[in-house]
Amino acid sequence: MTLAALVAGLTGLLAAQESGQRQDQGGGQSIHGKQLSAYEATPLPVVEKMLELAQVRPNEVVYDLGSGDGRVLVMAAQKFGARAVGIELDPRLYEASRAKIWDLGLRDRIQIVQGDALEQDLSPADVLTIYMTPYAMWKLQPHLEKFLHKGMRIVTVFDEVPGWEPTATIKVQGDNQRTYTLHLYSVSHRSGWTSYSKFGRKQ
Ligand SMILES: C[S@@+](CC[C@H](N)C(=O)[O-])C[C@H]1O[C@@H](n2cnc3c(N)ncnc32)[C@H](O)[C@@H]1O
Repeated sequence: MTLAALVAGLTGLLAAQESGQRQDQGGGQSIHGKQLSAYEATPLPVVEKMLELAQVRPNEVVYDLGSGDGRVLVMAAQKFGARAVGIELDPRLYEASRAKIWDLGLRDRIQIVQGDALEQDLSPADVLTIYMTPYAMWKLQPHLEKFLHKGMRIVTVFDEVPGWEPTATIKVQGDNQRTYTLHLYSVSHRSGWTSYSKFGRKQ
């Protein structure tokens, strides 16, 4: 790991912990110590590009790790015909996104789990989406490794997964004057623990 990546990881950790402490003060279930990233929504045009980049097909299963207000899940279900699962640590975001999914009548397509992404079984996922922090990627990498299977696609926003080579990287303009970098990892074959061997460059 480079010094820059280490510094970015530590900065992410401090920001996440500070944010976790702030949220603890609001009452409710404690998330301190488990929070990998503060909440920031991905603009909807960027969400659409993420799902296009992963080539989400009808009835595939999309997992969003740290699902926030549920926007990735809703677009995956409504626009791509997928089934979607969100993992969200923050109880308030969990409740709000769950209420939204009920209101939209998407209960049969979308499930939201309140919990730590690092403790979830990700094996049913055809597609994983992640918008967190460099520190989160560093923590998540060994967990993700357990569930990789042939045909699986992972899309990350801004931060690369340490030790993995992206199949593709694109830049997308948000509707907020910000440019988002998306990384796609396509798992080209099963087995092996050496990450580099799992990903093939897109033809
Ligand atoms: C940058 S936001 C992204 C939200 C959403 N995925 C989007 O793209 O709009 C990161 C989310 O991860 C959640 N989060 C942080 N640590 C987590 C953890 N250990 N397990 C599950 N979710 C977590 C935060 O509460 C926040 O909602």
